[in-house]
Amino acid sequence: MDHFEYRNGVLHAEDVPLPRIADAVGTPVYVYSRATLTRHARVFRDALSILPATKIAFAVKSNPNLAVLKVLAAEGYGADVVSGGEMERALAAGMPAEGIVFSGVGKTEAEMIRALEAGIGQFNLESAEEGLELAELAQRLGKTATCALRVNPDVDAGTHGKISTGKAENKFGVPFDRAADIFARLSAEPGLAMRGLALHIGSQLSSLAPLEAAFTKIGGLMREIRAAGHAITHMDLGGGVGVPYKAGDVFPQPEEYAAMIARVTADWGVTLMFEPGRVITGNTGVLVTRVVRVKEGVGHPWVVVDAAMNDLARPALYDAWHDFAAVTPNGQTITANIVGPICESSDTFAMARDIDEVARGDLAVFRTAGAYGATMANTYNSRPMVPEVMVDGERWAVVADRIVPATILSAERVPDFLV
Ligand code: LLP
Repeated sequence: MDHFEYRNGVLHAEDVPLPRIADAVGTPVYVYSRATLTRHARVFRDALSILPATKIAFAVKSNPNLAVLKVLAAEGYGADVVSGGEMERALAAGMPAEGIVFSGVGKTEAEMIRALEAGIGQFNLESAEEGLELAELAQRLGKTATCALRVNPDVDAGTHGKISTGKAENKFGVPFDRAADIFARLSAEPGLAMRGLALHIGSQLSSLAPLEAAFTKIGGLMREIRAAGHAITHMDLGGGVGVPYKAGDVFPQPEEYAAMIARVTADWGVTLMFEPGRVITGNTGVLVTRVVRVKEGVGHPWVVVDAAMNDLARPALYDAWHDFAAVTPNGQTITANIVGPICESSDTFAMARDIDEVARGDLAVFRTAGAYGATMANTYNSRPMVPEVMVDGERWAVVADRIVPATILSAERVPDFLV
């Protein structure tokens, strides 16, 4: 459920008509609903409350906007970060360092030092090599790094190949059958406090079955490591719960996810950690765009909009579907291809899709764009960086400026040897 609804024929974000924002800020622009964000954060947290001890670290990569992080910090969320930049954002949003989990296969020395100095809650180690490097840095700084070992369970998440992370051929985590040895080895390092295991098998999962298989597998590994004499107090079950992008698609509800976890982990006796991203932010945003023109096509007309693959990369990267809807629909539909202005054919949002009839100058939205939308934007074709707006009831504010080409150009230099 979200708070983007038609009132008197005009699509609103909460109590604000989208044309008001589009006219003031221009298009394309991401618009987030605070009420939707809060609602999703609470639904997920409340569903997990059937479990004895939990910690939720929001996957910052899905939407790192500072205002979004502030809302989630106020809801008691920590942060799952994968770079120094994400860590600084989480800290800037007021998330306590203790609530920050640092994941990722390529943490640099500088990032690990900064994380140790900030006192983050947990490093999710993705290799023995990384663990040994961190141990040395921690000792040098006179600190102890609290860690979990990320294990690759070799389970097929059944999602798009580019967002699967839990198969043996993926770069993430340590191989399942080497994990117990690596855990023992790293436990002997004075700079590390190994306290658990972590996994994350992929994103946009439409079924709980692969998650259950992975959790069951890692539960067995946990028992094996405990039997070898090590304490395991924390188990990080990652993120990955998908959301429906198409009206009518059915996805697991947070309550079903929590019930499955309660069943699988009943005798684990640990604090369970979670790293949800899309399930929290996906529905909280739309990308508002204006139709530049409708161009005649051979089969179907081309609806050329002013948003492009640089603003919303998911269709170009993963053939992802985002519902398209007119902001002031006239009740008619057409079959059309929806494309952006960028000079490559991958700048296509939809082909031969039945959509609201739109004409030059009309406003429209791509829905479910709150996760992996603005965060993946870039300036390809020297287009501006897309701005972001947050709505709260009748109030709204720009929460990320449009960064115009002149600003981007001002960061470039022509060296002396060229003039
Ligand atoms: N934890 C880790 C270690 C992750 O790598 C990810 C996502 C998450 C948590 C959050 O997953 P979520 O709950 O959002 O599914 N750009 C792609 C998605 C990439 C996901 C990467 N990792 C997309 O637009 O579909």
